[in-house]
Amino acid sequence: MAGVTMEKVVNLCKRRGFVFPGSEIYGGLGASLDYGPLGVELKRNVKDAWWRAVVTSREDVVGIDAAIIMHPRVWEASGHLAGFSDPLVDCKSCKQRFRADHVDGSRCPACGGELTEPRQFNLMFKTYVGPVEDTAAIAYLRPETAQGIFVNFRNVLETSRLKIPFGIAQIGKSFRNEITPGNFLFRMREFEQMELEFFVRPGDDEQWYDYWREERLRWYLDLGIRRERLRLRAHGPGELAHYAKSCADVEYEFPFGWSELEGIANRTDFDLRRHAEFSGKDLTYFDEERRERYLPYVIEPSAGADRSALAFLVDAYDEDEAEGEPRTVLRLHPKLAPCKAAVFPLLRRDGLPERARRIYDDLRRRFAVDYDQAGSIGRRYRRQDEIGTPFGITVDHQTLRDGTVTLRDRDSMTQVRIAEDRLVDELGARIG
Ligand code: GAP
Repeated sequence: MAGVTMEKVVNLCKRRGFVFPGSEIYGGLGASLDYGPLGVELKRNVKDAWWRAVVTSREDVVGIDAAIIMHPRVWEASGHLAGFSDPLVDCKSCKQRFRADHVDGSRCPACGGELTEPRQFNLMFKTYVGPVEDTAAIAYLRPETAQGIFVNFRNVLETSRLKIPFGIAQIGKSFRNEITPGNFLFRMREFEQMELEFFVRPGDDEQWYDYWREERLRWYLDLGIRRERLRLRAHGPGELAHYAKSCADVEYEFPFGWSELEGIANRTDFDLRRHAEFSGKDLTYFDEERRERYLPYVIEPSAGADRSALAFLVDAYDEDEAEGEPRTVLRLHPKLAPCKAAVFPLLRRDGLPERARRIYDDLRRRFAVDYDQAGSIGRRYRRQDEIGTPFGITVDHQTLRDGTVTLRDRDSMTQVRIAEDRLVDELGARIG
C-alpha cells in the first residue's frame, strides 16, 4: 500500500485530536486509547451510519441498550465461562506471557528461556457486585453485546408486533482481557461493538446468511472504502467459534495485513437453546402463518465501531499537492467526516469576518461546521483537508456585493460560486 502507514495515521490522530493515548499524563495504560474532539465525532458518525442502515431505515429491526454487567449465569449459558479463553505459555526465566499459538517451539521468543505448558486463560474481566468480595458476588464485564439481546428476546417479542424474520440490534462497550492487544484502535481491551441478531425460521438461515454477508459488505463500500482493500473471507471448519455453523469475515487490508472488521455468523439456535435450558424459560416462537412452534435460528453480523473507524481513517488517508504545496488529506465520506464544512473570511478586515461568522452561525444549527480566520487561505484549506472536512466556504469582497461565496471541494479542489442562502440546501444534498 503506497503512502499510508500506521505511524502516519497514529501521528495524525494524535496531532489533530482524533485519538490520544489513554491516561497519558500518567504514562499511559497499555492498549487503552481515548477519543478526542474529532475522533468522538467520527466514531459517532460511524455508529449513526450503522444504526440508520441496520435499524431505523428497516421495518424488521429494532434496537435495545442492555446492561454491561449481566447475571453471571448468562456467561455459563453462552459458553464464555468455559470456552472463551486463549491458551497461554509463561516463560520460566523472564516471566513474560505469550499466546501458545504465537510462539514456535518451547523457547521464549524474548529471552530464549524455557516455556511452561499451555494453560487456558479466560478473556473475561471479573469484578464483584456489592460490598462483599466473595465467589457469590463475582460478575463479569460483557465480552460481547450479543447476550444482552438473547436474554431480551422474549421481552422484545412480547412488547412489539414483530414477526419472524426480524432482528434486534445493539451498540455498546464490550471488554476482553486481550493477551496481545495492539495495532492502535484495532485490538483493545475495551471497545465498542455494533451487533445485530437476526432471528429466522430454521431452514431459512442459509438464505439470510447470504443476504447479510452481502448487505454488510455493501455498507463499507457505500461509505467509501476502496473495493480492492475489502473482501469477504469464509472461515474454515477449524476457525469456527463454539456457537457457529458458518461464519465469514469482512476483512480490510490494513498496513499490517488483511484483518477482520466484522464477522457474520450463523449461530443456529445455540444461544436461545442454552438460555432456555439455563433459565428454565420458554424461548420458542409460535409462527402463526405456518402454525408451528420452533426455536429461531440467528444470523449475526457483528462489527467493531473502533475497527471500522480505523479502517475508514486508513482508507481515507492520502498525500498529494494543493495550491502548489504538499498536503495530507483525509478523503472521508462526507457522512463520516467529523466536520462537514469550514467557513473562512478571505481577509480579517473590510467586514468579511462578520459576514463569515453570520454564515457560520446559520450553518452550525444544521451541521457540524468550523470557523477559521487564522493564517493564509491556503493554510486554512490544508488544515481542514487534513481532518477530512469535505467543504470549504470562503467569504470575499464579492460576497459583500452579490451575496455569493466560494464553495471548495476537498477532493477535486474545484471551487464554485454559490448564493449564501443556498448553502444549507447545497451542503445537505452533497452530504447525502
Ligand atoms: N458476538 C460475536 C462476537 O463478538 P467477535 O468476532 O469476537 O464476535 C466481533 O467480535 C467484532 O468485534 C470484531 O469483528 C471486531 O470488529 C470487534 N472486536 C472484537 N474484539 C475486539 C478488540 N479487542 N478490539 C476492538 N474490536 C474488537
